[in-house]
Amino acid sequence: MSAATPIASLGQHVGDEILVEGWLYNRRGSKALQFLELRDGSGIVQGVVAKKADAALFEAAAQLTQETSLRVRGVVSEHPKRPGTYELKVSALDVVAAPTEEYPISPKEHGVDFLMDRRHLWLRSKRQHAILRVRAEIVAAIRDYFDGNGFTLIDAPIFTPNAAEGTTTLFETDYHGEPAYLSQTGQLYMEAAAASFGKVYCFGPTFRAEKSKTRRHLQEFWMVEPEVAFMDFEGDLQLAEDFLVNIVSRVLDRRGEELKVLERETAKLEAVQKPFPRLRYDDAVKLLQEKGIDAKVGDDFGGDDETVIAEAFDRPVMVTHYPMDLKAFYFKRDPADPSRALGMDVLAPEGYGEIIGGGQREDDLATLEAAITAHGLDLETFDWYRDLRKFGSFPHAGFGLGVERTVAWLCGLKHVRETVPFPRMLNRLRP
Ligand code: 4AD
Ligand code: MG
Repeated sequence: MSAATPIASLGQHVGDEILVEGWLYNRRGSKALQFLELRDGSGIVQGVVAKKADAALFEAAAQLTQETSLRVRGVVSEHPKRPGTYELKVSALDVVAAPTEEYPISPKEHGVDFLMDRRHLWLRSKRQHAILRVRAEIVAAIRDYFDGNGFTLIDAPIFTPNAAEGTTTLFETDYHGEPAYLSQTGQLYMEAAAASFGKVYCFGPTFRAEKSKTRRHLQEFWMVEPEVAFMDFEGDLQLAEDFLVNIVSRVLDRRGEELKVLERETAKLEAVQKPFPRLRYDDAVKLLQEKGIDAKVGDDFGGDDETVIAEAFDRPVMVTHYPMDLKAFYFKRDPADPSRALGMDVLAPEGYGEIIGGGQREDDLATLEAAITAHGLDLETFDWYRDLRKFGSFPHAGFGLGVERTVAWLCGLKHVRETVPFPRMLNRLRP
C-alpha cells in the first residue's frame, strides 16, 4: 500500500502535509512561482512552489517536463475564492522518472489519427479520463440494475460455431482445423440459460466484421443482453425503458463532474423519463416521408434515418414491428400481422442512433426451423438451439444494449471511437 493521499480526497486534509504520487500534467511558471498541475488518476491538483520559500525546490520544479512521474509532498489549502478547489503548497518533490523524450501530446490541438496512434498515452488526457469514468459508471449501473432485479449473470462463450446476427459480419478463426466465429451476440446462449434460471443476462465483448466506416460502428464492442423466460413483447419494452431510465439517472447522479468536463448539456439527459414514445415501423416510415426523405415500407433505416426519427422526440423512442424480412431468424412474428416482427429498436435522442435491439423470440419449433432455412442457415448447426423448443418451449424475450453507443450518447460524443479504451475499427487494430 502506498502512503499517498488520493487527490480526490484532499478536501479531508486541509492544513495537513500529505504525499501525492502521480504525474506532471502541465506546468506554468513565472519568475517567482511555479505552478505544477499534478494528476494521480483520482483527480488533478495544482502544486505551488515559491522561489522565496525555497530557491532550490523552485529550480528543480522549473526543470520538470510534462508526464514526469513524481512524489510530491505539500500542505493542502482550500482556494480562497473557489470553495471545493484545493491547492498544494509543495515542500518536497522526488522525480520517479523523467520522460526520455518530449511528450508528444501537448495541450494544443492534434488530429484524431495522431491521437489514436497514441491512444495508450491519450488516455491520460482530461477528456478521455472523464469519458472512461462515465463508461465505468455505466457498466457498474448495468450490473447493479440486473443483479438487483433478480437476474443471474451467465457468461456467454466468445468462440461460436454459428452466426446469429447475419453471416456478413462474422470474424472467422481457425478452431483446431474447424471454423469458429467470434461471437456477434450471446443471445442464443441466454435463451438456453433462461430455461434454467428464468432471468439472466450476459455482459461482454462482441464482434462484428462491419465493412462500413461510420461513427456508430466498432469491430469489437460491449453488449449487455438480458433474457427473461415467460416475458412477452410488452414486458420487454417495459424492461428496456425502466433499465435505460435507471442508467441515465445514475450517471447524472454520480458523474456530474465528468459530464461538466465534457461540457455535456445535462438537461437533455434529465428529460429521459418514462414512458418512452413508441412508434410502429410503418409510422416511422411515414414520419421520414413527411420530412421529405425518400423512404418506403420494406427499407431498413440507415443511421441518418434514425437520426431524423429520433429528432422528433425528446427522449428515446422505441420503434417496433419491423418487417420480418429485415430481421434475424429468431424473431417471433406478430400474431396480428405475421409479416411483422415482435421486435424493437430503441433510438437514442440527439442523433445517437440505435442503442438497443431486441424482442420476443420464436418459440414454435417448426416456425423457427423454417426461418433458419429461409435465412440460408444450416439446421444442424442449430441443433442445440432447436432443443430449447423441443424440451419445454416457453415464451421469452430480451434485448441487447451497446455500451459504446450509450457512452457516446451520455457523454455527447459524435463518434464511438473515444468511448472504449482501445477501439477496434475497420482501419485500426493498434495500439
Ligand atoms: O441490434 P443488435 O444487432 O441486437 C443483437 O445482437 C441481439 N441479439 C440482442 C439481443 O436481443 N439479445 O445489437 C444490439 C446493440 C445495438 O442496438 C447497438 O447498440 C450495438 O448493439 N451494436 C453495436 N455497437 C457498436 N458497434 C457495432 N458494430 C454494433 N452493432 C451493434
Ligand atoms: Mg439492431
